[in-house]
Amino acid sequence: MLRHTHLRPVPGLEEIRLHLADEVLPLWGAVQIETDDSDAALPYWAFAWAGGLAIGHYLREHPEAVAGRRVFDLASGSGLCAIAAMHAGASTVTGADIDAFAAAAIERNARANRRRVTVVRRDVLDEEAPDVDVILAGDCWYDARLAERVLPWLHRARARGIDILVGDPGRRHLPTDELVELAAYNVRTTTELEDLEHKQARVYALRPATGR
Ligand SMILES: C[S@@+](CC[C@H](N)C(=O)[O-])C[C@H]1O[C@@H](n2cnc3c(N)ncnc32)[C@H](O)[C@@H]1O
Repeated sequence: MLRHTHLRPVPGLEEIRLHLADEVLPLWGAVQIETDDSDAALPYWAFAWAGGLAIGHYLREHPEAVAGRRVFDLASGSGLCAIAAMHAGASTVTGADIDAFAAAAIERNARANRRRVTVVRRDVLDEEAPDVDVILAGDCWYDARLAERVLPWLHRARARGIDILVGDPGRRHLPTDELVELAAYNVRTTTELEDLEHKQARVYALRPATGR
């Protein structure tokens, strides 16, 4: 897979370097061959998604949100948000993703940035939220089924006093009524993934649940 990616600074967050792909289709084809699965997931982990980029910008501007705190990066992909949290001074960071390639990418990218990120490769959404201070959820709202499971999990975490930071460019299933906007950024992504090279992406806190 490394043949399809290059270690390079993340546009707009140059202090972070990731193994990123230029094109999605050749890499996706390689994943399908390697896994012998024509339904293999898109290689999300080889791109810095707009939601994760927004969280990266936010943590650069507001390191106090995570400094000295235990952080869990849900749907970590490349590990972008996890690494941004370590840059901002988090005490520990765990990155979770269901995709085996993502788990490997998080490890590889953390190493490339000389940061320590613990990797969890399983679906945690049926479990209790982890014992952490902050959960990051970068670009999780692109899929109805995932969105349906992420929201109650985040609410349960919030009810336990965990701070939630959501980063998103306005995907179809984003639960805007449940969120409070904290910041907006014009982030640079790629037309391999999006309709435009620059996207407006926002960072939100989760509104406390009422009467749940
Ligand atoms: C659009 S990518 C976002 C990656 C990263 N957060 C970013 O913003 O660049 C979504 C990621 O969610 C992961 N994912 C999907 N379902 C998941 C689940 N149930 N638990 C953890 N990760 C999941 C996918 O494998 C993918 O890596």
